[in-house]
Amino acid sequence: MITSTAIAHPNIALIKYWGKRDISLNLPSVPSLSLTLSQFYTQTTVVWGAKQDQLILNGERIRSLEAQKVFQFLDIIDGSRPPCKVISENNFPTAAGLASSASAFAALALAGTSAADKDYSLQALSVLARQGSGSACRSLWGGWVEWLHGDKENGSDSHGIPLAPPEHWDIRLIVGVVSDQKKPISSRKAMKHTANTSPFFQAWCDTAQEDLDIARLAVLNKDIQTLGEQMEHSTMKMFSTMFSAKPSIHYWKPQTLKILEIVETLRQKNISCWATMDAGPNVKILCSPEHSHMIVEAIKPHCLKTHVLSAGPDAKLI
Ligand code: DP6
Repeated sequence: MITSTAIAHPNIALIKYWGKRDISLNLPSVPSLSLTLSQFYTQTTVVWGAKQDQLILNGERIRSLEAQKVFQFLDIIDGSRPPCKVISENNFPTAAGLASSASAFAALALAGTSAADKDYSLQALSVLARQGSGSACRSLWGGWVEWLHGDKENGSDSHGIPLAPPEHWDIRLIVGVVSDQKKPISSRKAMKHTANTSPFFQAWCDTAQEDLDIARLAVLNKDIQTLGEQMEHSTMKMFSTMFSAKPSIHYWKPQTLKILEIVETLRQKNISCWATMDAGPNVKILCSPEHSHMIVEAIKPHCLKTHVLSAGPDAKLI
């Protein structure tokens, strides 16, 4: 019996992943680019050899589909594994407006392979984490991370690669939580539905590499304006595929639009800030550290909660 514990941080995509070219392997239709976040993390312990498969999430025994996903994931590491116990805790509330599946599967990949006594390269860990949740393949690294589209059918070349470490650029991402309700449709289902029915989906795929190339250069040059504009462009194109799906998918709330309007108004006053959203109504605002306080004050009346986050570190075994 080996026990291993790992920590991984969530990430927010600046150039979005939306759509899969292979559903079972979580191979993306587009490349993406993200920022790994500080402060918040998932800590996961895997006990390789237990009486039965058992998942404890934030102190509670889980027996649902979520548990099945976790144990199927461990099967990828070793198809003839013993029963395992997995204990996972998020230090951030599930309603923090951040997807926890990215940090969860990155931490599980690290702790699981170590508990199984298998030696994986970081790249192989990223390929593995991707199979749990696509965005998890970016959470193995801190700072700025790309997820390569790849070409191979088995997905071995579709994984994260670090673009720049967290200390490369001191930046803030403000999360404005406008709703703590469960999302009406999972991102997994929504991606499939959009890919199948939106007439804009092909255009989304055709233009993603260019978005990524521009954003990559902006990160390397620490050019917040180009990065912010490109992030908003990628975000709005992603949502356009949802709006134009049949029937259409809506994740936004009135407060989402209100905050977008505030961000635009602040920009007119020369405050550099740009917004993005994921499969939900919560808004994330990219800005310089010196503007974060003012932005929080401006959006606060429309939020249940706000969090000011910076670039976070690599996932690690502890
Ligand atoms: C909108 O990684 O949660 O946040 O691969 O089905 O687990 P699965 O999806 P997931 O999707 C994230 C979508 C997004 C954009 C992004 O993070 O790039």
